[in-house]
Amino acid sequence: MPLRLSAALLPLIFAGAAFALPGMQSADVTKRVKLMTQIRDTTVQLSKMARGDTAFDGDQAARLAQLLRADTAAIPIHFEFQVIDPQSRARPEIWTDWVAFEQAAARSQAVADALQTETPQQMRRGLATLERTCRQCHRQYRVGD
Ligand code: HEC
Repeated sequence: MPLRLSAALLPLIFAGAAFALPGMQSADVTKRVKLMTQIRDTTVQLSKMARGDTAFDGDQAARLAQLLRADTAAIPIHFEFQVIDPQSRARPEIWTDWVAFEQAAARSQAVADALQTETPQQMRRGLATLERTCRQCHRQYRVGD
């Protein structure tokens, strides 16, 4: 009986061990990827509303825009430390080129700050500009873009 129990547990233990092996994201990388993922999710939700894929809700749009402003403002602090692990797509130029990286973040933040959410049309315009600033930074500072 104890034998059967440990045999059943074995895959679980190994699954855990595999997860903790080198190649797992460092805490710093996990945090910045989480921030980026949240920025993406917020942008997608706003875009769906702007295109009419989901019902337009002015209050919700304003809340999402506020989150986007806070998150884009937080980009530089999430990249403060030069950490690159095998899971990361960050280019080393972020840190050799820090001022320009901060400027790229500031461009996204400025567009998020100016984003108007009273009508879907306003949102469409603002989001199109915002997406250009995402792509601009990714092309320069993210591997594979
Ligand atoms: C100032 C630069 C910069 C700006 C601006 C920026 N990003 Fe990023 N983003 C990065 C870098 C660098 C990475 C790679 C991070 C890593 O892998 O360590 C990244 C990663 C991502 C990821 C991948 C997360 C994952 O699962 O690996 C998503 C999604 C993303 N960004 C979305 C966005 C969106 C949407 C915007 C615009 C609203 C945006 N980013 C603006 C630099 C930026």
